[in-house]
Amino acid sequence: METITKENIKSIIKELLSKESSSIYNKSEDLFGKNEKYEEDLIKVLSILDDAYYQNDEPITDDATYDKLKRIAENLNIQTIKSKVGAKAKKGFKKIKHLAPMLSLGNIFTEDDLTAFINRIEKELYKKLGQGLEIIAEPKIDGLGFSALFINGKMIKCATRGDGEIGEDITENIKTIKSFPIEIDINKYPLFPKEIEIRGEVYINKNDFIKMNEEQEKQNKKIFANPRNAAAGSLRQLDTKITASRPLNLFVYTYTITNDENNPYKSQEDFLNKIHQIGFTTSEDFNLIKLCKSKEDILNYYNSIFENRSKIPFDIDGVVYKVNEVSDQKKLGFIARSPRWAMAHKFPSTTAITELKGITLQVGRTGIITPVAELEPVNIGGVIVKRATLHNQDEITRKDIRIGDTVVVARSGDVIPKITEVIKEKRPQNAKEYSIEKETNNKCPYCGSELIKDEDKVAIKCSNKINCPAQIKGTIEYIASKDVFDIDGLGEKQIELFYNKGWLKEPYDIFKLPQYKNEIKALEGFAEKSVQNLIDNIEEKKHMPMYRLIMSFGINGVGDATSRLICAKFKTLNDIMNANVSDLTSINGIGEITTIDIINFFQDAKNKRTIDNLLQIITIENDIYKKSNEIDTTNMLYNKTFVITGTLESMTREEAKEKIREFGGIATSSISSKTDFVIIGTSPGSTATKAEKLGIKKLTEEEFLKMIKE
Ligand code: IVH
Repeated sequence: METITKENIKSIIKELLSKESSSIYNKSEDLFGKNEKYEEDLIKVLSILDDAYYQNDEPITDDATYDKLKRIAENLNIQTIKSKVGAKAKKGFKKIKHLAPMLSLGNIFTEDDLTAFINRIEKELYKKLGQGLEIIAEPKIDGLGFSALFINGKMIKCATRGDGEIGEDITENIKTIKSFPIEIDINKYPLFPKEIEIRGEVYINKNDFIKMNEEQEKQNKKIFANPRNAAAGSLRQLDTKITASRPLNLFVYTYTITNDENNPYKSQEDFLNKIHQIGFTTSEDFNLIKLCKSKEDILNYYNSIFENRSKIPFDIDGVVYKVNEVSDQKKLGFIARSPRWAMAHKFPSTTAITELKGITLQVGRTGIITPVAELEPVNIGGVIVKRATLHNQDEITRKDIRIGDTVVVARSGDVIPKITEVIKEKRPQNAKEYSIEKETNNKCPYCGSELIKDEDKVAIKCSNKINCPAQIKGTIEYIASKDVFDIDGLGEKQIELFYNKGWLKEPYDIFKLPQYKNEIKALEGFAEKSVQNLIDNIEEKKHMPMYRLIMSFGINGVGDATSRLICAKFKTLNDIMNANVSDLTSINGIGEITTIDIINFFQDAKNKRTIDNLLQIITIENDIYKKSNEIDTTNMLYNKTFVITGTLESMTREEAKEKIREFGGIATSSISSKTDFVIIGTSPGSTATKAEKLGIKKLTEEEFLKMIKE
């Protein structure tokens, strides 16, 4: 292998990864075919990556790749790994040696990995989960590790994790975090060890992070890439006044005692409870800890934390499993730099580093121009990402994004990927600045019409509302989408093709597509069966509920919920078209701006003509919405707002929502002081506790069913 430099490190990583064995518990000897050169390279690579991440706060690779390399390292004979996991102490800070090294955790990613972890522990301890063996599960907080030495109840010094052995002195900084007790009354808590290092994580809440960045921006100061970086940047300040001004929080999750005989804690659970009583913050404060007695318990915990992570106020990058009993922990011991009794189960990675190859412009149905990043394809948590949204010119300018840059791309759930950061150090000399105005000469790239600023003054819009092909195609895409007419088999590609053929000139031409059946079949790549499915689907959708039709008009502010509200109030389409301002504003949930947009839409002669023509082709279902004016307004659900949490037995949540609407009630997904009832199913989410706090009436499924029957 060649010498490792910053330039070739990526290809070397690729080569190393290609040699990884599939199971993380495989014996290491044949992993690299006994080739020690690979081991040396791995150590060097990890050390370069560590420096980039911890020293310079500028990662070279993404978390998932780093974790994989670490996993290979852990699988090898660890004694040979000299890589320092963590950051070397920053200049200007006093250095502090930890009582015992601050360890890292091994990582797992899959259910199979979890099974292997459990099997290994059960085998070594000669006992099974649930039969004398318990595992405590905690969130893995994505912040900055610290270790605080307490002697006789007094906090003497505190350090960052550093390289695991030596960290930076942040004693004065940590004292600025008010929730952290720095003096324990040992008369009151005689069991608190005479000498102990309390360890945990300093972090910043997601909301505070956003506010903090807004403040930084106002003052023209450094914008932090994520809450973790913001916490690190805030804590590692020589001027503690700056630390004090930042919204730092912390959690305690482990400890170190030099002399085991002095350990008063029987288990991790015991430690967390006792420390919590004294006043230290633990994940228990957020109800995020679970004692698990089976693999199912563990998986349920992982899944529920994973699914609900957006509701947790701070960033977590996984969960941590710890063998509960201290005596069991001792038996299991350590492997190199990680305990064998603990394991991190990481969430699939949501960010990756890649290159910005170019910027293209998209014009959507409203005419707004969105710049799109064309990326060197990169795998983020199992999905290949090729493009990311750049939102608008302001975003490009503010983040100083240039073509050729190396960028951090983030993707979570179904959200469109976005660029969160530019790695400036990697900017090539020929990186090119980008300006929509210069690039387009202020003309729509699709129809050549003048570009204008949108009302919000940020977005740029194509001024041609009627004939811009991009806007027409965008509208067709919208009305064919799942939320509106849900026409399976009619996506971006097909729309582009049919539009170019002249079969789709206007949005509602989709209902005329069946007449081109034979022509479509003759096209390359269109199988007989799929064409028939498409045609059947279109025919079927010609008969539609009124709220879908209203949604399809694309009126500003009239999406699914508003459209349903309108349909619940009026009997027929005609009534809606003739509604006046007070008719519409009297609907709870519809404001003045939307009202005006609705009225303007129906007053427009061209829209009226389109609707007339459309009604020649489609029929509106004689559905619940049409009948809703006839509903008995004295029923208990009428005009009441409901939220459902947990799983219902007799119906799905969607069905329950439909029922509520059928009775003139309003079904929403998030709880507020305006909510009248919360229906609680099995395994309810945090909504149940919130209902309690807000004093909102809770209903069991049975009570809800009774309500409908009555
Ligand atoms: S326990 C011996 N518990 O993750 C056990 N660590 O990759 C050592 N972390 O350095 C740590 N949440 O900074 C533990 N609930 C948790 C944690 C946690 C976050 C961090 C910690 C550690 C890193 C390991």
